[in-house]
Amino acid sequence: MKNYKLTILKIGGSVITDKNKELQVRMPTVNRLAEEIKKAEVSNLIIVHGGGSFGHPLAQEYDLKGGLKNQVQKKGFSETHHVMTVLNGLFMDALIWRNIPAVSITPSSCIMTENGRIKTFEDKPLKKMLEMNFIPVLYGDAVLDLKLGFTILSGDQLVSELAVRFNAERIIIGVDVDGLYDYDPKVNENAKLFTCLTLKELKNLRRKLTKPKTVDVTGGMLGKINEIITAAEKGIPVKIVNATKPNYIYKALKGENVRGTLIEGGKID
Ligand code: IPE
Repeated sequence: MKNYKLTILKIGGSVITDKNKELQVRMPTVNRLAEEIKKAEVSNLIIVHGGGSFGHPLAQEYDLKGGLKNQVQKKGFSETHHVMTVLNGLFMDALIWRNIPAVSITPSSCIMTENGRIKTFEDKPLKKMLEMNFIPVLYGDAVLDLKLGFTILSGDQLVSELAVRFNAERIIIGVDVDGLYDYDPKVNENAKLFTCLTLKELKNLRRKLTKPKTVDVTGGMLGKINEIITAAEKGIPVKIVNATKPNYIYKALKGENVRGTLIEGGKID
């Protein structure tokens, strides 16, 4: 078995929640993913999960992404952060009761952004956890922003930041489709899956994609691509797989061949 230096695993909110129903967790999926993570036995792992129908509807209702404009939004900030801790708790339950040494790290307590981009990160506890072979678990969160008051930090920005900061060997992203397509596969049934993309091809693809249809304040697949580019430019490969399908995350974690999109890391020519 290959020992990876560090793997960052993101599980999208659309996988672990029903994005069409507010505050609906998909517990059987969460439990299955925890089994797969356990079975894969990957050491040096950081997990990040998204918000789905927990974080996004409230963040949208209170218009949090653009920052503080009125005092009512503060209630929205508290609520959004709170529901994310609830979703995280359910995710942690599934991991911890399977004897996975996972420890939750609350992004809003150690990260501040500036105009939506990560600016400060108190990362010593996380580093120490990795040294001690714990598996830190973070999530997209409502965070304080040095210019805007607050904003929404996407799990995808977090993934890129963690990968670059801790020199990850690879990123695995679990979503609810088979990978990146030339068109939205949920709208266009003739959409073609890209199995392998160079950084240049990924940048071209970005121009073709449109904004998401469901409530997603952090930009759906388009937002994801923008964040992935940052890590891929540093030479970190990114594999996107369908986490709603059994064993895909397991196989990706093991480094086995699995349907999905591989984005090769490297410098842009
Ligand atoms: C969003 O995180 C977090 C909040 C809305 C509070 P993500 O942007 O990573 O969530 P998903 O994966 O798209 O659901």
